Amino acid sequence: MSKDNHKETLHSERRAFIPLVSYFIAPALKKATGKWVDFGAVEDLSPGSIEMLTYEFMVKDGWLVLPQRGFVWAKSNTDHNIKVFSSTCTHLACNVIWQEETNHFLCPCHSGRFDSNGKPVAGPPTKPLATLEHKIEEDNLLVYLTF
Ligand code: FES
Repeated sequence: MSKDNHKETLHSERRAFIPLVSYFIAPALKKATGKWVDFGAVEDLSPGSIEMLTYEFMVKDGWLVLPQRGFVWAKSNTDHNIKVFSSTCTHLACNVIWQEETNHFLCPCHSGRFDSNGKPVAGPPTKPLATLEHKIEEDNLLVYLTF
C-alpha cells in the first residue's frame, strides 16, 4: 500500500467514526428541558388526601413532535401545604401507584413501597420519591416537569 493510499484510508475511517461517536455521545450531552404544567384549581384537591394528576402535552425533539403523557401525585394537607411527588420509582423507573388502604405508594414491578412522604419502606428502592417543584398562580397548581 502506498503512503498516499494509507492516508486516504485513515481519513475515510475517521469520517465514518465521527458520526458514530456523535450518535452515542449527543444524547448524554443533551440538556434536560422542562416546563410549568398547569394542573388546575388548588381548591379541587381534597385536603388530607393524595391524588393522581395526569398530564399530556406535545414536545418538539428535532423534527419530531411527540406526546408526553404521565402523572404525578399531589399530597394536600388541611392547611393547603402541598407536596408533589414524581410517579417514577427510584429503583428502575416504573410508575408507583398510591394505595389508600395501605397508606403506601406501591411499585408493581418489584414490590417496592414508599410511605406517604415518599420514603422507601420496603423492597429494592433505597431513595425517596422525587418531590417536584411547584407553585400556585392565580389559585392554580403549577408543577415543573422535566423531559
Ligand atoms: S422499579 Fe420499582 S421496585 Fe423496582
